[in-house]
Amino acid sequence: MHIFIAKSSGFCFGVKRAINLATECSKESNEAIYTLGPIIHNPQVVKRLEDSSHIYAKKTVDEIKAGTVIIRSHGVRLEELNAAREKGLNIVDATCPFVKKAQELVTLLAREGYAVIIAGEKDHPEVQGLLSYGIGAVKIRVASHPDELKDMPRKKKIGIVAQTTLHAEKLQDIVCFCLGKAAEIKVFNTICNATSIRQEESALLAKKVDRMIVAGGRNSANTRRLFEICRAIQPMTCNIEEAKELDSDWFEGAESVGITSGASTPDWIIDSVVKRIKEIESLNKKQGGRADAV
Ligand code: F3S
Repeated sequence: MHIFIAKSSGFCFGVKRAINLATECSKESNEAIYTLGPIIHNPQVVKRLEDSSHIYAKKTVDEIKAGTVIIRSHGVRLEELNAAREKGLNIVDATCPFVKKAQELVTLLAREGYAVIIAGEKDHPEVQGLLSYGIGAVKIRVASHPDELKDMPRKKKIGIVAQTTLHAEKLQDIVCFCLGKAAEIKVFNTICNATSIRQEESALLAKKVDRMIVAGGRNSANTRRLFEICRAIQPMTCNIEEAKELDSDWFEGAESVGITSGASTPDWIIDSVVKRIKEIESLNKKQGGRADAV
């Protein structure tokens, strides 16, 4: 079975940076270090950090008495950041610079009097954070599809910012819809390159393989999106968090398999997926399966 791995798989720049910052912090101090919510959307990495580096995820600033708090890669709400400042916590800001840029643009649009629309998923922590940066905005809305804006009255001017991991087509749909809603529209394409490159590469890979594996946390929006994109092309696509979830029956008749991953998936998970595929193949061969070389 031929195994192809998407070039861009593994940690993206922002996640790598956040993990490096967290690791450095833990080396510098033996005290417990906290994150507000999981530092990245990968339960296996978060568990490893807890086990090996005394870094613990807390839901709110209230749960942290003192010490260091690391701001996760996709940012937090401004109120939480301010609460951490007021409490005198030592803040290590691991917000990805691309997310930070989107936060600043929301503030800018609100200050300039635009009706702000965040193209993204309402419940995603990054979007919740972005919303909080619309300081003084008359109206700020979130939409992942134009249907969610149907009740929006005509505006004088609309400003649009996107969740960094949004699929470009979704942003296009929202922008097109808004064209009929205001004479002036300002759009900041804050979709991160790392996301779009990963999506394009994964789509190309899904076209040429018999099975497609998307490795990544089920709580990761960009993993979910990769899964949707790949499945639309190759119905035999699965989303796994760990190699042990792979089932040998699923590979029956397959001559090639593609692996891609969400931006929060470490290389060691991808390596373990490759190892598991090879084990499954050799097991199938022993049981009288195909005899192709891996
Ligand atoms: Fe940053 Fe893009 Fe990764 S926004 S966290 S580099 S997916």
